[in-house]
Amino acid sequence: MNRLIESHFTANRTWNESENVQNALRKANPPVRERRAMRYRRVPDETIKRLPIYLRRAIRLSEGGVKCVSSKGLASLLGISPWQIRKDLSYFGGFGTRGVGYDVEKLVDRIKNVLRLQVVRKAVLVGVGNLGSALLAFPGFRPYSLEIAAAFDIDKTEIGKKRSGLVVEDVALLETLKERNIDLGIIAVPADAAQDVANNLIDVGVKAILNFAPQYISAPKNIKIITIDIALYLARLPYYVPSK
Ligand code: NAI
Repeated sequence: MNRLIESHFTANRTWNESENVQNALRKANPPVRERRAMRYRRVPDETIKRLPIYLRRAIRLSEGGVKCVSSKGLASLLGISPWQIRKDLSYFGGFGTRGVGYDVEKLVDRIKNVLRLQVVRKAVLVGVGNLGSALLAFPGFRPYSLEIAAAFDIDKTEIGKKRSGLVVEDVALLETLKERNIDLGIIAVPADAAQDVANNLIDVGVKAILNFAPQYISAPKNIKIITIDIALYLARLPYYVPSK
């Protein structure tokens, strides 16, 4: 490795080129933290999608006093094949015991760890209308250590009101988020406002957004956007129901 660096400098290349070589070396032998991150990056999105499903079930089992669950047992509770469950969990190191199964507490901890839910993760909600208010009142984010910690709206009649314990703030003051350690965003505004809201959230440091508006959101590659549209799911249902 040293020879490579030496020969590189003796060749009298520009600083920019030497930076390229250093990057190449770093890529070939990245530090431990980066190696871990790379490992997670190789995990298929489909696996990441299933992890919260496993987590939810594992939390319920744990609450019910269950200490251990096999992949087969978990599979029958979730309608997912035991093979798939084993494969998904194997991405994060073997923590099941052959013939015994998974320690439920450990399963909860490990999945929370992978999803980075070990600490409470704060989200900001933009748009406190019908949907936004329902999201604020929903207690179901807590088991996943997710908390809606701030809510913004553009409507002057809404700003300053308390909704589910949170005071609705003026969206013009979104930049106050910079000092509040909130890196998740939820968009519940009309479609034509969604892209602007997303841009503003990204500008103030939000790194991942759950978008409920029926609108494609374009964002830099390092920002994760997940769009949910119940109507799209509903629109598929009639296809499976033959007309009489
Ligand atoms: P709503 O009209 O009740 O609420 C929208 C809120 O956004 C209002 O309080 C409004 O003042 C605020 N708003 C508008 N422009 C804004 C801006 N630039 N910055 C901050 N706040 C702004 O509408 P509703 O029913 O709550 O729906 C909200 C969004 O969610 C819509 O895009 C709707 O299509 C979508 N939706 C999606 C569903 C899904 O399954 N993904 C289900 C229901 C609604």
